[in-house]
Parts: sequence; structure tokens; C-alpha cells
Amino acid sequence: MKRRDFIKNASLTGVGLTVGGSILNCAENLSEKTKNETTMALNKNKTPIAICTWGFVAANAKAGEQLFKGSKALDSAIAGVAIEEENIKNTTVGKGGAPDREGNVTLDACVMDSNGDCGSVLCVENITNVAELAKRVMTETPHVILAGLGAEEFAYRQGFEKDNLLTEDSKKAWEDWLKSPEYKPLINIENHDTIGMLCLDKDGDIAGACTTSGLSYKMKGRVGDSPIIGSGLFIDNEIGGAVATGMGEEVLKTVGSFLIVELMRNGMSPQGACEEAVRRITSKNDRYKDFQIAYIAINKSGEVGSYCIHKGFTYMKYQNGENNNIHSDYFDKA
Ligand code: GLY
Repeated sequence: MKRRDFIKNASLTGVGLTVGGSILNCAENLSEKTKNETTMALNKNKTPIAICTWGFVAANAKAGEQLFKGSKALDSAIAGVAIEEENIKNTTVGKGGAPDREGNVTLDACVMDSNGDCGSVLCVENITNVAELAKRVMTETPHVILAGLGAEEFAYRQGFEKDNLLTEDSKKAWEDWLKSPEYKPLINIENHDTIGMLCLDKDGDIAGACTTSGLSYKMKGRVGDSPIIGSGLFIDNEIGGAVATGMGEEVLKTVGSFLIVELMRNGMSPQGACEEAVRRITSKNDRYKDFQIAYIAINKSGEVGSYCIHKGFTYMKYQNGENNNIHSDYFDKA
């Protein structure tokens, strides 16, 4: 789809969201039973949709095809992002991800389900499928977050295999970086491609997953937005969901994904909400010139939106058997 068609569709469908939002707002005065029936009527008969950050064609196709076969939103999102966690050519997610400045590959991930449950793992070494591990934290422990060695040991107890995440290629790139190791974490299209995925399943339920190796050559122990519920990912199944990619520190400061869902709750389209979340960052000062942030969002009606700071961010959308790579609109047009 061309960008102008995408924008046109987004603004047209924005009308639908306002109508849906009004119904839900009016429902505040109704009995719980009527309110639930109203919400269910809005949610049923959905065409499944998968969206994810960047041009991760195979990952999004995997999630979309699973959704089409009837898989639930969370399982589909985790299956989708696992493709990139296992892709050793991807230097910013999973195995093959760039290490920290001391040569350790540490991964961050979180998941959030349509019932509001969530799980997260921070700074995990030697485990490839950290989104699935985050789900196990959610389903197999009374906790939301496990970090570092605790998360790794939990993984082994859950049957995950120990893996060396530092590939020959990522080791060589790190050794090249060490030749002039000025501490300046890198972030741009080529070297920072967190995969955040949002799925709307046939039941109209929304869930998501977010997984990354974080900034290339980061300080040991550094954790960004991706595994932090509300920053890297947030879902409210009555409203929609959002995920972020880019410089995690700036997403954390504005709790970006939660903000987008709350803006949608108050009647904004996914597109408008993503634009406002970016504006909250760019309006503070002009440091945004040095980093990229991008958001994607989906609402209960299946409308999607995306916005980023700088030109170059794309996202995938799978619907009705089509898996399209869409150029996001962006803030910095100077
Ligand atoms: N957005 C991923 C990170 O900053 O680590």
C-alpha cells in the first residue's frame, strides 16, 4: 500500500474508532452485563491482523498465518518474534545480537496477553527465545519480571537449552568496534531493530511481544524499554495495543506504549496516538535529532497506526493473506 493510501485509510477508519469509543464511553452508565455484551459485539468477527516493527517479513507472516489458522494472539506473536530471535543475521534481536561493550550478549523481552497478564525478562544471557521465556514468567511464576542469572536459571528449569548467542560475525563486529571504543551506543536502522509485534486474533483479542538485544555495545547491565511493560509494549484488550522500537531511554521517560493506549482510550486513532507519543519526546528539546524512536499501534477495530522521528522506519502488516511492508510517516521533515 502506498503511504498516501495508508494515511487516507487511517484517517477514514479513524471515524470508526470515534464511534466505537463513544459506544464504550456510554457503556459506563450501563449495567455490567449490558456493558460486556456491547464490548463483545464490537469485538466479534475480526479479520486477524499481525503487525510488527521494521521489515521482518518472515516473522510477521508466521504470526499472521498462525492467526489465520485460529491461533490465539499471544501464541502467534511469540511464534512470530521467535523467527528473528533465531535469525543469526539479525544483529539486534536474539542469537547473533550485538553484545555489550564487554562482549556479553544480553537479551530483553516482554509479552502481554489480552487478559492483562504480562511477563518480562531482563539482561538474560545464553537463552535464545526470550519472548517465550517471558511468557513462562507470566504463566509459571507469581511474578512479572525476572532478571539476569535468575531468569537464566529459571529458563533451564523450564527446559530451555543453553546457547552461545555470540556468533562469529557479531564477535568480529564487536572486536572491530573495540579498536576505537569511545562509548557512544549506536542506534539507527542498520543496527537497532527491536522486534515488537501486535496480534489481533479471530476472537478479537489483542496481545503482543517485544524482544531485543538492546543497544549495540551498551554498558554492562543496561536495559532499555523493550522488556518494560508500558514502555516497550502495552495491551489493554478493551482498547488496543502499542509497541516501540528505537532509543529505549527516551521511550522509558515517556512510558510511550502505555501513553498510546491511553490516548486511544480517550478517542484518538492509533495513528494520532502514535504521533502524539512521538511529539511528547520531540517537544522536550532537540536531542531527538540524534536518535530514532518509532511506535506502531492497533485498536480493537483493527485500525493500525505508526509514527517515528526520522525517515526510514517501516513496519509489517499481515491481513487477509497479504503481508505488506509499510513506510511510516515521520516527524523530522526538515
Ligand atoms: N528499544 C530497545 C532498547 O533501547 O534497548
